[in-house]
Amino acid sequence: MSPFRLTRILPEDATAAALRADVREGLTADPKTLPPKWFYDAHGSELFERITELPEYYPTRAEREILADRSGEIAAALPARTLVELGSGSSEKTRYLLDSLTGLRSYLPVDVSESALRQAGQALAAERPGTEVHALVADFTAGLALPDTPGPRLLAFLGGTIGNLLPAERAAFLTAVRALLSPGDALLLGTDLVKDEDVLVRAYDDAAGVTAAFNKNVLAVVNRELGADFDPDSFEHVALWNADEEWIEMRLRSRAAQTVKVPALDLAVHFEAGEEVRTEVSAKFREDRVASELASAGLELARWWTDRENRFALSLSVVR
Ligand SMILES: C[S@@+](CC[C@H](N)C(=O)[O-])C[C@H]1O[C@@H](n2cnc3c(N)ncnc32)[C@H](O)[C@@H]1O
Repeated sequence: MSPFRLTRILPEDATAAALRADVREGLTADPKTLPPKWFYDAHGSELFERITELPEYYPTRAEREILADRSGEIAAALPARTLVELGSGSSEKTRYLLDSLTGLRSYLPVDVSESALRQAGQALAAERPGTEVHALVADFTAGLALPDTPGPRLLAFLGGTIGNLLPAERAAFLTAVRALLSPGDALLLGTDLVKDEDVLVRAYDDAAGVTAAFNKNVLAVVNRELGADFDPDSFEHVALWNADEEWIEMRLRSRAAQTVKVPALDLAVHFEAGEEVRTEVSAKFREDRVASELASAGLELARWWTDRENRFALSLSVVR
């Protein structure tokens, strides 16, 4: 068994302050918004894992297929000694990379969800002697610094999570990622692809209602952390395709006119009947957009792999 370490780069009081700031800003804006990172308390992380197993949610299966087929090529292109993974969650698909990277010394999963990091990290450390597992509780959009570990480094950002960032946030994020990398390091990026609207919407509005429960979990987080009195049943889960932006939006629509109190912020938030809070965007990509966004951050798209049905892509950018 190799050692498992967990470092909280985001102290709990900083997380609480960030949640307060985001909720105040988002719920007093017009239209109202809440950032998707607050879905992921322990229950939200479990719900996300259930989403990945739903028949409608193709991205996980498509990305797993690419990793199963291509991890050997990825490891040959970048024989990393450190694998950093942003938004690692359960690290389930990462196992293909861990198996292929035979010279790997250090695995650094980074996530806001401490529960997901502990569960995944402890299991991986127990299974993989020789690879140090050092989990970092951190917000990957907030000036991430990484511990000093041996290079070359492969920085993986899987799951299509980059699509949850708005375009300006993505540009800032990719620039920050580039700054973390040295010559010989690489970024492995998972992006969901533009496809038929029905397929996309179903992936975010499943028949069993798991995605609806995941969406409403953000209200439970705000209730628990800020003493708010959201009644999740008085909001309806909405998923729609925004063709202009080429992203899926998840929203929560108030079923009636209501006022919600958020005591920790000394705030009362009024909702008209039918008013919506945008809780997530999930951008879908085309190869040229991925290449140009990478290029704007000083990264060059070197390899592009898709699953057999062209639903999802993994790209590799090696820093020269
Ligand atoms: C869509 S899930 C993907 C999980 C996993 N990589 C996969 O492919 O199944 C997004 C993950 O990113 C994490 N996350 C979301 N926003 C984050 C942020 N700002 N900083 C760090 N982790 C974040 C969530 O906790 C969650 O584990």
